[in-house]
Amino acid sequence: MKEEIVRLLKEREGYLSGQELCGSLGVSRTAVWKVIKQLQKEGYEIEAVRNRGYRLIESGDVMTEAEIKSCMGQGIIGRNVVYYEETDSTNIRAKHLAEAGYPEGTLAVAEKQNAGKGRRGRRWTSPEGTGIWMSLVLRPDIAPAQASMLTLVAALGVSEGIYEYARIPAQIKWPNDLVLNGRKICGILTEMWTELETIQYVVVGIGINVNMEEFPEELSKTATSLYLEMGEKLKRAPLMGAVARAFERYYKIFQEKGDLSSLKEAYESRLANMNRQVTVMDPAGAYSGICRGIHRGGELLVEREDGQLCKVLSGEVSVRGIYGYV
Ligand code: BTN
Repeated sequence: MKEEIVRLLKEREGYLSGQELCGSLGVSRTAVWKVIKQLQKEGYEIEAVRNRGYRLIESGDVMTEAEIKSCMGQGIIGRNVVYYEETDSTNIRAKHLAEAGYPEGTLAVAEKQNAGKGRRGRRWTSPEGTGIWMSLVLRPDIAPAQASMLTLVAALGVSEGIYEYARIPAQIKWPNDLVLNGRKICGILTEMWTELETIQYVVVGIGINVNMEEFPEELSKTATSLYLEMGEKLKRAPLMGAVARAFERYYKIFQEKGDLSSLKEAYESRLANMNRQVTVMDPAGAYSGICRGIHRGGELLVEREDGQLCKVLSGEVSVRGIYGYV
């Protein structure tokens, strides 16, 4: 009911009468009043005027299950939102939800993670009140070998969602980071569970540094936040909604072919490495070249000095820009 009241208040420009609310929700005026009180406590500025009703003035950076749900579209992504004030890792939570039978599109979100997971076994710093820590349960009908492409689809969705919501042009550092002014603002960790060569489910974990004012010394050279780069604090729940909607659009396009051929252009237009020199840290020997975009399977195309075009597989190697982090 809380989520429904938030949604109705957001949709209405003027006042929403208590009677209308009671009518559409089928509850008493007292029940509505109680929820309004709770919402005010959570940070919503709601005006209550006798004989007119309720009006939402401002919603602040509210991160509750009801607020997050009210920001999700009508599609599959975010149709279930499971919210944790504090948890170990939303990727671990999403895995459990998937095991328990939660459907595709289920979103696990935490205000704080105390064991956030990064790639290559690293920890992901996830303090409360500043970031978006969320993991999506997907059940795609693709082969396990295609699953790594979902990381690229997610990167594209995050980049597009941030742009749509805040007009911030975050770029993608292939395959799964987002950067702004050469420093990282988002990381993506995709994990897959299979049985007999069939995908049971995939968890796509997304961490976005939104409103951090500072970073620990060891991270400050490579990491930044949207706030530090743009000077404006953002509301996380609607940003999350924009990312979920953008991801869903790209995910549908991806599923039509099971590869990235229809998303190549969009991905490359946001690719920070595009036409820049990169060093491929191949275990068989590092080499340099110019990044020429992506192949339909998500591989990075790198043109070596002798003109040879190499396909770099994500996971096998890491790519470093010659200058700085990108
Ligand atoms: C990386 O760049 O190393 C990937 C970082 C992924 C972090 C996100 S935060 C939400 C989700 N839960 C986790 O434990 N990790 C991912």
